[in-house]
Amino acid sequence: MWINNIHTIFVLLPFLRLKFLKVELLEELIENHKKFSKMVVKPCAEVKGEVTVSGSKNSALPLLASALLVEELILENFPLLLDTLYALKILKILGKDIELNPTLKRVRIYGEIKRIKVPYELSSRFRGSILFLGGLLGAGGKAVISHPGGCAIGARPIDQHLKFLSHLGANLTLKGGYINASLPKEVKNSNFVFDVVTVTGTENALLTLAGLEGEFTLENVALEPEVFDLLDFLRKLGIKILTHGRTLKISVPPKGGLKRRLTHRVIPDRIEAGTFLVLGSLLGNPLKVSGLNTDHLGVLLEKLEEAGVTLKILTPTEVEVFRSLPPKGLFIETAPYPGFPTDMQAQFMAMLSVARGSSVIVEKIFENRFQHALELVRMGANIKIKGNTAVIEGVKKLVGAPVKATDLRASASLVIAGLIAEGQTEISEIYHLLRGYEDMDKKLTFLGCHAELI
Ligand code: EPZ
Repeated sequence: MWINNIHTIFVLLPFLRLKFLKVELLEELIENHKKFSKMVVKPCAEVKGEVTVSGSKNSALPLLASALLVEELILENFPLLLDTLYALKILKILGKDIELNPTLKRVRIYGEIKRIKVPYELSSRFRGSILFLGGLLGAGGKAVISHPGGCAIGARPIDQHLKFLSHLGANLTLKGGYINASLPKEVKNSNFVFDVVTVTGTENALLTLAGLEGEFTLENVALEPEVFDLLDFLRKLGIKILTHGRTLKISVPPKGGLKRRLTHRVIPDRIEAGTFLVLGSLLGNPLKVSGLNTDHLGVLLEKLEEAGVTLKILTPTEVEVFRSLPPKGLFIETAPYPGFPTDMQAQFMAMLSVARGSSVIVEKIFENRFQHALELVRMGANIKIKGNTAVIEGVKKLVGAPVKATDLRASASLVIAGLIAEGQTEISEIYHLLRGYEDMDKKLTFLGCHAELI
């Protein structure tokens, strides 16, 4: 009898260890990111060679939420960064199993949902957690999720997310900071017009509709490439989606008609690509940025050329950038895609701080997305903020200083400023950078720069 037990233990041990290992690996990766508080950046004479961008954070997040709609989802070109690691942790809490392969940049999410409550202490760490509202509703019609709250760049309301659900006929109550949502048996309205173009609002609506059946129309939707990556995923699932301008016509078959297992490759991160192209505009001699999708970069490439930067589009996935010092001043106004991305204005502000002449940046998406300007001024930049407009007078050089990261893209702009400044720069609250960029320190070091996490 006892031999059988020992035998059973030896048979089960690898699986138990593997299961433990999976959880341990995720926790270990999160701890590995959280242990750093600063990045030390030193002046970099030039960046030469090639950097490959990772998968898009803002595409991976809705795709992770969509893992709740299927039995098994394998994501390739998966970016390992704090926001996606936190999202994986939420999926585990909801009952999903996770198999993470950092080397292959692949993650497999499988198993059944066992819980529908997303804990505040996790969801409050990143805005993208709101997408689990749509994922849970699409999966089983019920969700309990904390209001994600705002962040440094603005109030980040979710009124449009909730207005869409109410329009469907969902029951929504707010208790103790948690939104309790449940879909109706019968949908009240199958057409919805967003008052505001909202990326995660559009994505949440799509995730919710995936769990219903019938014909739906969404108007005034966001058209970011990350939204289209989700559309591609949902089409693979078996949902018919026609796009006409900012209108989506969606036809969802009965639940049985949807695929239960899928593999999907995350699109390249266009904001990381843009960040390296800005760096190359200042230091590239030349810098080749690979693994990107030039179709997603439109206005960014135009603005860099307008600044006098030499860009060579080698293939649809590779752009070579030659520095042009000093860059010319620009007028930039952020707008929903395909307009100039708000997620790139901080990086451009760092570049325009040393441009010839003056530049104007008008931030039309978020009400408080100029905090990096205050830090750039500490490095010698000449920037005046009036409401949602920044006027930048180019200066000869920036001077390294201790600065503070305030949000994800602000931290990237301070890294760029530190690399072109004279003297050392120490960026504190560096977790903001680690939330949204995969291995930025390693990529910069590989290009010959000094960007050390401590
Ligand atoms: C997404 O945020 C991105 N995040 C942001 O990227 C990006 O800056 C933003 O879209 C704009 O492109 C993810 O995709 C995870 P919005 P999201 O809803 O969806 C207002 C980064 O750096 N609004 O499109 O939260 C809102 O206040 C991050 O990676 C409402 O009024 O942004 C803002 O003014 C930062 N009511 C505007 O719409 C709502 O219900 C656009 O916000 C929703 C939004």
